[in-house]
Amino acid sequence: MAVVKADAYGHGATMVARTALDAGAGGLCVATLQEGIQLREAEIEAPILLLGATNTPEQVRAIAHWQLQPTICTPQQALVFSETLSGLKKTLSVHLKLDTGMSRLGMPWQEARQFVELVKRLPYLEMKSVYSHLATADSLDPTVMRLQHQRFEEAIAQLHSAGIEPPCLHLANSAATLTDPALHYDLVRVGLALYGLYPAEHLRSVIRPQASDAGESAGDASENDSPWYWCQLWLPIYR
Ligand SMILES: Cc1ncc(COP(=O)(O)O)c(C=O)c1O
Repeated sequence: MAVVKADAYGHGATMVARTALDAGAGGLCVATLQEGIQLREAEIEAPILLLGATNTPEQVRAIAHWQLQPTICTPQQALVFSETLSGLKKTLSVHLKLDTGMSRLGMPWQEARQFVELVKRLPYLEMKSVYSHLATADSLDPTVMRLQHQRFEEAIAQLHSAGIEPPCLHLANSAATLTDPALHYDLVRVGLALYGLYPAEHLRSVIRPQASDAGESAGDASENDSPWYWCQLWLPIYR
């Protein structure tokens, strides 16, 4: 998913959203309801996940009207959504967020099973995914990221033991996407990297594009001295 919050990090949300979708992004992430509405008004029809909190019945009605996909973080919030949607007779796709260590938004990961069971019981809410956010994926020290990953895995195991198979799981921001494929799950939420920005200096070496002149061979494959321009992308191989 392409993260186009904050006017696509200042690059222009509508233009970046269209470009990312044309290039194959499966959906968009924004921070606020207003940002989501702006994309819908620009006639963008792709799934739009609201990363920020929305709580009031008025917000729920707007989210339903524009068919945006909210993040649900607490049982109380889930109840407000379900009650308001019952009045509208409209079902919404929702994403359930677990707090695995970011301590900003999300249900404590230890309570994942009870939380997901509650949401599944409520009418008019369709669970689209379960996700969490990493606080320090860009750090050289992977300790906190590994702990968060482990907690996410334990939360998923809780769900599986209750017979719940979430349709989609996601955890990675740009730094995690560049760091370890084990963090990729079913989709990644990429912001910084989408704009050509490296989340941290030590991640710079991860991708190395290289172009060469027409007629030059690539690597040691001397039989490759074709008249074409070569464009190589060097990627690390994970053990
Ligand atoms: C929940 C969530 N996921 C993904 C991202 C994208 O992060 P990055 O720009 O580091 O890729 C953000 C950015 O704020 C976020 O809040």
